[in-house]
Amino acid sequence: MVLKQLSLINFKNFDSKKFELDRKINCFVGNNGIGKTNALDAVYHLAFGKSYFNPIASQNIRHGEDFMVVDGVFEKHEKEEKVVVSIKKGQKKVIKRNGKIYDKLSEHIGFIPLVIISPADRDLIIEGSETRRKFIDGVISQSKATYLHQLISYNKLLSQRNSL
Ligand SMILES: Nc1ncnc2c1ncn2[C@@H]1O[C@H](COP(=O)(O)OP(=O)(O)O)[C@@H](O)[C@H]1O
Ligand SMILES: [Mg+2]
Repeated sequence: MVLKQLSLINFKNFDSKKFELDRKINCFVGNNGIGKTNALDAVYHLAFGKSYFNPIASQNIRHGEDFMVVDGVFEKHEKEEKVVVSIKKGQKKVIKRNGKIYDKLSEHIGFIPLVIISPADRDLIIEGSETRRKFIDGVISQSKATYLHQLISYNKLLSQRNSL
């Protein structure tokens, strides 16, 4: 699978930006604060519908604006696939594949398998087992939808039991 094109509107420091990507290796080069990490986080949005860095969706909207759009064109099994994530302040996040809105974000997980590597990965070694379990759960969930569904049910059940 390849990401061929990435378009951003009001995503973090970008007002409007389009990247045409190579099929093999792409490098982002530029001064500090230019938006290299933000561009990678935009790709993360296409796979997981959220930011790797900031769990508060509205904070990924460019300051002073009230909506953002991350749009990616992929090639998967020789077919073109368009994924769009849009967030508007005060509204539910919308994730679309080829124009169709997903009912649940979990239906999209695994469609674009992705792993991000960052300095924070040291936490996998330093922190406790919960951090490691969460990482492994995330990786398995991308390749097995039933695992993700059972994990979601399990966590719901656990929180219900605990509040009981
Ligand atoms: N919601 C936002 N609105 C506007 N700018 C933002 C937003 N979130 C982050 N930024 C800006 O993005 C810049 C950092 O971009 P980053 O991708 O980390 O740069 P680098 O190229 O060094 O990786 C900072 O200047 C930060 O202020
Ligand atoms: Mg960076």
